[in-house]
Amino acid sequence: MQNVLSNSEPYAPSDDTIFFANYIRNETGNCALDIGTGSGYLAKILLRGFNFVVASDIAFDSLRKAHSSIDNCICCSGANGLNTKFDLVVCNLPYLPSEKIRDTAVDGGKNGVEVGLEIIESVKNMIKKGGKFLFLVSSLTNYQELITKTQEFGFATKIIERKKIFFEELILVEAKK
Ligand SMILES: C[S@@+](CC[C@H](N)C(=O)[O-])C[C@H]1O[C@@H](n2cnc3c(N)ncnc32)[C@H](O)[C@@H]1O
Repeated sequence: MQNVLSNSEPYAPSDDTIFFANYIRNETGNCALDIGTGSGYLAKILLRGFNFVVASDIAFDSLRKAHSSIDNCICCSGANGLNTKFDLVVCNLPYLPSEKIRDTAVDGGKNGVEVGLEIIESVKNMIKKGGKFLFLVSSLTNYQELITKTQEFGFATKIIERKKIFFEELILVEAKK
């Protein structure tokens, strides 16, 4: 479990954010959750298609900024502070392999998966039947470990989009209950 509740600056929307945003633009439903919302960019897109949107982040300073446009913000790890089920949960994971979690925006821990595994575990009972969990990782991460863990939690998974950027490939995973 990470013990960092704040980092200096919210993650500024980047290539990965835009790649993810383009994919969720047409999603619709009742309730959606954006885990690790950072600036709130993805949560704002979800507001167009969902009646109720929650944004979570472990970094309180990021969340304070996101709260200027998202009403329902919660500072917690993954979905741990929540007790409801969602039609859609999205997470642009912090995925860079790192010895320690110094910058919560990008550091994913050992093999880039430690934080992702925590987040995926927190989501396992938070998806409505027929709902889905979308998460974004990179070829720099041991993403197969994340996918296998997601399957162990009872999700059917598939890689739905890939995009090469610079020296990595972005990988968007869909997990369905
Ligand atoms: C790669 S950034 C993505 C930010 C934003 N969603 C975007 O797409 O631009 C990862 C975000 O996850 C947050 N984060 C890191 N560990 C977390 C955890 N255990 N639970 C919730 N959020 C976490 C970071 O603070 C950061 O805002």
